[in-house]
Amino acid sequence: MLVNMKEILHNASLEKKAVGSFNVYTYETIKGVLESAQQQNFPAIIAFGEKYLKNMDFESVYSVVKTLSKNIEVPFVLHLDHCSNLENVYKAIKAGFTSVMYDGSALPYEENVANTSKVVEIAKACNVSVEAELGSLAAGLDSHEGKLDDREIYTSPLLAKDFVQKTGIDALAVSIGTVHGMYKGTPNIRVDILKEIKEKVDIPFVLHGGSGTPEDVLLDCIENGICKINVNTEISVYTIEKMKELLSNGQKYHLSEISLMQVGFIKEVVSKYMKLFNRMV
Ligand code: 13P
Repeated sequence: MLVNMKEILHNASLEKKAVGSFNVYTYETIKGVLESAQQQNFPAIIAFGEKYLKNMDFESVYSVVKTLSKNIEVPFVLHLDHCSNLENVYKAIKAGFTSVMYDGSALPYEENVANTSKVVEIAKACNVSVEAELGSLAAGLDSHEGKLDDREIYTSPLLAKDFVQKTGIDALAVSIGTVHGMYKGTPNIRVDILKEIKEKVDIPFVLHGGSGTPEDVLLDCIENGICKINVNTEISVYTIEKMKELLSNGQKYHLSEISLMQVGFIKEVVSKYMKLFNRMV
């Protein structure tokens, strides 16, 4: 069942769990996330960022999701991940996405507030939920979304309060030390900043840069208000490593078999994180 993100994040927050948000850009990634959700019986967020418009357009993503989810009974969200272009936000809503992330985090604060508020007004009229970001993440190893010169800027608790009040967003992405990609050294995740934000702001929080974050840290973040965790890089890194192993054994495969094997590897990573986020480990 395709739903708006607001309700599943609210339920997750009541149960002190998080919903996994997994990036998709191909038929195999969409199939992998939907099948994991159904088999594990957990809600899921299918996240498609504007970065991947070169791979699929919004209408194709929506059609594949709709077709593959005919027999999926768990609630799931079709969410637009990181999108800094307002036109693309509106196109995704028009195509049938049930949730959007407008990312104005690189803009001057007042401009971010103004644009995000505009998105909220339009999205709410279409029953679409809105996530926005304050602060910014650095890029780690193998990051496909992040850029080398991305600077780490922690989310300011005071600004977070003002931002949420002025914009009316449904979920706030915070920057507390996770990175887009795999960590270069030991992660230093500032749960103390998250706690400070939570004292001032009462909406679900989103943690970007889930890949490679230690499990105990992720659980601590969930305990302190994180209700949605994004995972992208690790799915790609793991699947490519497994494909390399398979292809190096001299055996020949047909492309159709490769596609099925990819779905299997994607599901391994997605299911691992779903269980963790739902405290099943
Ligand atoms: P990772 O690639 O580090 O898992 O981050 C994903 C993400 O934050 C998507 O927005």
